[in-house]
Amino acid sequence: MQYAFILGRVYTLSIAELLVVLKEELLNHEIPFKILAASEEALIIESEKQLDHEKLQRRLGGVIKIVKLVDVVKKREQDSINFALQNYFKPSKLKKDFLKEYSGKKQFGVSLYLLDKSIKGFGEPKRLGMFIKKALVEEGDSIRVCLPDYNSLSLASVVVTKNLLLQKGAEIVVIAGIDRVYVGKTLVVQDFEDYGRRDYQRPVRDEKQGMIPPKVAQIMINFAELPKNGIVLDPFCGIGTIIQEAILLGHKAYGSDIARFAISGSEKNLEWFRNRYKVPPGKYKLEVSDVASVSKVFKDEKIAGIVTEGYLGPMYSSFPKETEIKQNFEDLEELWLNAFKEFKKILPKGAHVVICLPCYRKDTDSYVPFPSVDFITDLGYDIEDHFPAASKKLMPFLKLTERKSMIYDRKDQVVAREILTFINN
Ligand SMILES: C[S@@+](CC[C@H](N)C(=O)[O-])C[C@H]1O[C@@H](n2cnc3c(N)ncnc32)[C@H](O)[C@@H]1O
Repeated sequence: MQYAFILGRVYTLSIAELLVVLKEELLNHEIPFKILAASEEALIIESEKQLDHEKLQRRLGGVIKIVKLVDVVKKREQDSINFALQNYFKPSKLKKDFLKEYSGKKQFGVSLYLLDKSIKGFGEPKRLGMFIKKALVEEGDSIRVCLPDYNSLSLASVVVTKNLLLQKGAEIVVIAGIDRVYVGKTLVVQDFEDYGRRDYQRPVRDEKQGMIPPKVAQIMINFAELPKNGIVLDPFCGIGTIIQEAILLGHKAYGSDIARFAISGSEKNLEWFRNRYKVPPGKYKLEVSDVASVSKVFKDEKIAGIVTEGYLGPMYSSFPKETEIKQNFEDLEELWLNAFKEFKKILPKGAHVVICLPCYRKDTDSYVPFPSVDFITDLGYDIEDHFPAASKKLMPFLKLTERKSMIYDRKDQVVAREILTFINN
């Protein structure tokens, strides 16, 4: 069986998360899988087992669609995508492999993703849509086509959901490489409404300190490779985003924060979350504590891993002065040194610590990162490399820092988050 995962904007994080989750879902159960192709937009795998796509999609913060591939069509390098697929879409094929049985007006959408930047995609979704429509209209079907906007090649998951494409027809996905074209249909898309609810509908928000987006929290929790029913700790929990996402992923989660108002915000948010998502009692615990004494608070608990955004220092709307950056880094080094000493006291060997460090964005793709983290590795932690050498070779487009971390940033933010995973050795 072949599947394509359509990746989120920060695709390196998406792929790293996928590799962890596929390892847990497949490799750990001795079900091998193979990466067939990958780009900044999509990762294609072959697996011997049918995937539980609904469950996987709920688990993955960095994947926006899961597609089941139906065919691979050969293409010569010089051929356009529509030339390669000109005889592909036949009424019988569409009925058998793509469109859902639906008695009303059928709806289908077309999305194109590229495996190589040199491939020309402009205008192709429209041409493919015409082929498909022609084949269906000839059969006397009543259908409606949903195409990407003029300046885009693919439909956003919001559009797929709002147009009920998966219920009333299909989203047909074409993934084009240099010498082949994969054709498939979307099985599931990310539930954007639920992510929005978990972010914006909470009773308490903290715009001043900032909150980690739920999707990124999910990715970081997946990086922790927690054992089943393992307890995760966020010692800078703020208003509780990581606690909430960890519970949704099936874990018990403890949170602490130096600020009493943050803990009271977490309490209100988690009460709302518990009711909204029907969470049984006893899934979380919250305490006021400086990270420098967190081991005392949780000394009797079996913590399986730590996932925390941490304190990023002051927020800025324009690039700060060098002296300010230097001071922030010095302050944070002291904070994290104390924190990692404490973590040693409560973590088992092999446990993961996933954190964010601030990374000041100068302009697109140029940052002032936190200086050396040797003070952490000197305490007896290793930095996790999320990508084995073979996958780095297969995916030269990955964006990794020299110390194997990844950066999550947004155009409108000066303080980006560098995400690092440490292993307690
Ligand atoms: C960026 S916020 C975390 C936000 C959180 N991830 C969320 O989504 O709600 C950083 C938090 O670290 C807390 N903090 C700062 N210094 C601390 C310390 N020494 N010990 C514990 N918490 C601290 C702050 O009170 C703040 O709530």
